Amino acid sequence: MRTYLCALLVLMLCACVSKPAEERAGEWLAGGWLMQTGQPGAKPRLLVFEHQGVVWTGTITTAVREVELKDIAVNGEQVSYSQAFNPGAGRSITTQGVLKNGELHLTMNSPMGVTEQTAHKISAEQVAAFEAARPKKLSLPPLHDVTANGLASTPPMGWNSWNKFATNIDDATVRGIADALVSSGLRDAGFVYVNIDDGWQGERDANGVLHANSKFPDMKALGEYLHSRGLKFGIYSSPGPDTCGGYEGSYGHEEQDARLFADWGVDYLKYDLCSARGLYRAQEEMQAVYQKMGDALQATGHPIVYALCQYGMFDVGTWARKVGGNVRRTTGDISDSWQSMSKIGFSQIGREVYGGPGGWNDPDMLEVGNGGMSLDEYRTHMTLWSMLSAPLLLGHDVRNMTPEIQALLTNKEVIAIDQDRLGQQAHSFSQQDTTEVWSKALADGSVAIALFNRGESPADMEVHWSYFGFEKVSAVRDVWRQVDLNPQDDGYHATLPPHGSALVRVMSKN
Ligand code: GLA
Repeated sequence: MRTYLCALLVLMLCACVSKPAEERAGEWLAGGWLMQTGQPGAKPRLLVFEHQGVVWTGTITTAVREVELKDIAVNGEQVSYSQAFNPGAGRSITTQGVLKNGELHLTMNSPMGVTEQTAHKISAEQVAAFEAARPKKLSLPPLHDVTANGLASTPPMGWNSWNKFATNIDDATVRGIADALVSSGLRDAGFVYVNIDDGWQGERDANGVLHANSKFPDMKALGEYLHSRGLKFGIYSSPGPDTCGGYEGSYGHEEQDARLFADWGVDYLKYDLCSARGLYRAQEEMQAVYQKMGDALQATGHPIVYALCQYGMFDVGTWARKVGGNVRRTTGDISDSWQSMSKIGFSQIGREVYGGPGGWNDPDMLEVGNGGMSLDEYRTHMTLWSMLSAPLLLGHDVRNMTPEIQALLTNKEVIAIDQDRLGQQAHSFSQQDTTEVWSKALADGSVAIALFNRGESPADMEVHWSYFGFEKVSAVRDVWRQVDLNPQDDGYHATLPPHGSALVRVMSKN
């Protein structure tokens, strides 16, 4: 009888403390998981899942930043969730995970494409250790003005690996792109920088020297290869401990990395805020971390174009030159769509007061040729970027492009508008419904006028020279078509296709 009563008690106790079946179903997920991308050099990230009843919460943590996971749904041995994609405003990464042999296999769908990752469960102590090892703010130098390096008297032109390849980039691909820049005539049209973006980094050795990962066996030799083809060599790092792709940044190793880059023959550095955003939140701090690398580059004595990438925060145009910056990103990331490109491009109004020789505003790299826009839209992309005196960094696979894209990118007269030595970024002249007119003063006294149709149907547009204060004009050039127009006409008229543009260059008589 006593045994029977005891058993009954245990059963009743179990029934009280055990959770309903649907709550127990996802129990395997709760706790910490260490996530690895499988890409050489990429650092692990921490995933933590918790639940209250059937409601799940979670975070993903890089070296310094914790991002909240949203819409977590657990179903049997599967989980799905989303997270904000940074710094692309309004975009997100969605992930599907499945438990297989004790490991969580994750498929992440981000604006940059699909990646596979694996995560394994770690103990509460390991989670605490990961968090305790998170880097702290560095002590930063007082602000001063870094002497201008005299580089980038016109907006830099070249190619960057990110828009097409993201972190799937390697030595052979870079060499292949370099060859294609030469054979396609793009190098001779001015596209000389070959910039490797995120994903080249490996680990630091015992002396703190950063090495490239196994996809880049010899960076110095790669630089020599580029130089031997009349090209220049660009690289990427971050003031934070982690880059945006989860690779080693220059945090605490600024001088050492600058010397390394100079030794490799690097001519251009893109310095991307990434994880440093979680450490330095005040303008003065951000200026100081960028100044630190500006000073470090100068100290090498090697000419290196310095490109700041902190997405335009703290009105970067007002201080970028002070930290030695030749180029400064003004926006979040571009993607290969009309919505993204036009939103970024047309929102640059007002920045023209800061841009100019030696210090250019950068509305992000080109997407021309990546396939997500029509030829008219890509032409508008080039028209707008040239009017904005933006760096022209190609972002497509130069080895495979159509003759139309090649022609679009090598139009010398369009490029000349971008590269004009006056460096006067265009201003928005007028906006009406879905049409816009922008104008840009050029070094020879002529004016570039761009007409844009942002609408979904064809638009008749006209401008009169008198709008621009010209009584008479002596020459009018249709820049895209490279033909002279009749200077006797009192203006320019065109029917622009949806998302289309026109570009004319006008010399006045008065
Ligand atoms: C950020 C930058 C991008 C690219 C990636 C690399 O998102 O804005 O241009 O460099 O990082 O991870």
